[in-house]
Amino acid sequence: MHYIKHTLIAVSTILTITQCQTPKEEPSAEMRANDIHSFAKPDEAVVTHLDWDAQLDFDQKVITAKASLKIQTSNGATMLILDTKNLQIDRVTTGAEEKNTNFELGEEAAHMGRPLMIPLNGEKEVVHVYYKTSPDAEALQWLSGVQTAGKVAPFLFTQSQAILARSWVPIQDSPGIRFTYNATVQVPKGLLALMSAENPKEKSADGKYSFVMKQPIPAYLLALAVGDITYQKISDRSGVYAEPSVVEKAAYEFAELESMIQAAEYLYGKYQWEVYDIIVLPPSFPFGGMENPRLTFATPTILAGDRSLTSLVAHELAHSWSGNLVTNATWNDFWLNEGFTVYFEQRIMEALYGREYSEMLASLSMQGLEEEITQMIADGHGVDTHLKLELTDRNPDDGMTSIAYDKGYLFLRSLEEKVGREVFDVFLKTYFTENAFKVMTTEGFIDYLNTNLFKKNGIAVDETLYQAWVYGEGLPDNKPTPVSGKFEKVEATMKRFVEGSSPDDLLTTDWSSHEWLHFVRLIPTDMPRDQMTKLDEAYGFTITGNSEILTAWLVQAINHQYEPAYVSLENFLVNAGRRKFLVPLYGAMSNTESGMLMAKAIYQKARPNYHFVSTSTIDEMLSWEE
Ligand code: BES
Ligand code: ZN
Repeated sequence: MHYIKHTLIAVSTILTITQCQTPKEEPSAEMRANDIHSFAKPDEAVVTHLDWDAQLDFDQKVITAKASLKIQTSNGATMLILDTKNLQIDRVTTGAEEKNTNFELGEEAAHMGRPLMIPLNGEKEVVHVYYKTSPDAEALQWLSGVQTAGKVAPFLFTQSQAILARSWVPIQDSPGIRFTYNATVQVPKGLLALMSAENPKEKSADGKYSFVMKQPIPAYLLALAVGDITYQKISDRSGVYAEPSVVEKAAYEFAELESMIQAAEYLYGKYQWEVYDIIVLPPSFPFGGMENPRLTFATPTILAGDRSLTSLVAHELAHSWSGNLVTNATWNDFWLNEGFTVYFEQRIMEALYGREYSEMLASLSMQGLEEEITQMIADGHGVDTHLKLELTDRNPDDGMTSIAYDKGYLFLRSLEEKVGREVFDVFLKTYFTENAFKVMTTEGFIDYLNTNLFKKNGIAVDETLYQAWVYGEGLPDNKPTPVSGKFEKVEATMKRFVEGSSPDDLLTTDWSSHEWLHFVRLIPTDMPRDQMTKLDEAYGFTITGNSEILTAWLVQAINHQYEPAYVSLENFLVNAGRRKFLVPLYGAMSNTESGMLMAKAIYQKARPNYHFVSTSTIDEMLSWEE
């Protein structure tokens, strides 16, 4: 995984609401971390509010829009700098009177796009940018009807994290810069539009929709989805959006959503975004989930039919605190978003289903983490195993490894184990309350930890703790170890099977999907073909509806050249575009010459269904040239 119509009245009303609801403090110059992935100079001029007025053209795959940016300037500010990528800028005006102004697009830089430089002559409070997106805007995936569940209506969704928001909105695309937004979006009649904002529940007659996001968010949380989408309520403050043929299944899968929100609130404090909805997207969505505020985006591959993959929902929900309320200052601090979220996800799952269940989850991710660390060190990427990353001149996507997620989780768990859960829980609740709507750097967190966890509770720590966990390679020897009695039984079961027992004699009837996943991963590399066949005949792995188990099994099938699973492999790869599944599958195929040929043949068919995020990774793995 190396991995609107513009209304000034609305603006002032929204700002007033924002000020009383969420005491927003713009970080002072010395607090603001320097973000190497943005051209913006927020100390001079910073965006505080966006009014976005957009028309969508599905035939041309183009959004034509006007972005009106309210800005705050420091004394003597001469320039507003925005991030853009592949945007066609048609006109820039300033002030309520919309006077045309000069602008300049700087040189294109790798990963970053081009800075849009707008001179500020005197006091300017609002800048309007008229622009068009490119048909290959990296954040946008335009799907034709056949790529959806309904097969008829087209679909569009965005994926802004980490630095792709700039490919559909000219904005200061840095996690440390927060703004409120209003939007008006015109889409073809018959389609519903949704954003990371207050959302409609029904289609409008004319295809026009208005949105208000009154809490300040960073650009990577800007999101839009458009399609033949319907809504089903789950609780008073939560529900699910999906295509009509998917919505029932989704509502069943997520029925426990309200309990999850309550468990989360008990731990971290009140849910601050009022509504928590989930949209289930078409299968080409490149991630499992994306924590767009008020509206999590999710892959349909978590609809297993038995609620067994809902930890992903707990994860995205947890981001409503870790990430969306307290935000990593730069992508070098990504572990603050993801490590906290995995820790919190585990705590939610433990609260709902018990420790035994959450320990199985922890143990599964631990396996993945250890393998990935070994690989990264072997490949000479040891520095990428530090929690604090160094992504200068690199794609922030390179930081999307198990390190931020699972090493981050283990570090927080080690802190919990050091001070005891009660003390740690008080600390965490205070941390999220005191830092809500602010940004956090790794160093800021360490300071906060030293003062508010250790000093306050009279616990001695020294720098070696941080050297080992945050600035050091791999995992410290005294790392926490998840223990699962159930997994020990699974290991014993695999041993018996390998030694010749028949599946009829194995006690697997009460196994959860986690136990099955562990079982499949335990298949030894030298398992003979007839045993693979026996397993598949007894347990139906090739036809399982659980995407995690299916991926693990298909990897085994490739490694064991178990051909009966190849049709299923090809179907899965042509349909699902979730990168987490594509990487191990194409990876396993690319290990052999014949596998590589098969990988390329499948990729040729599947590639048009994948999002940029996925194709950029797989192109590299297969040395693919269009
Ligand atoms: N915020 C991430 C997805 C992301 C990270 C997108 C970095 C782009 C850049 C999301 O919360 C996430 O972690 N998704 C995981 C789910 C999980 C770990 C349960 C995924 O998509 O697999
Ligand atoms: Zn996450």
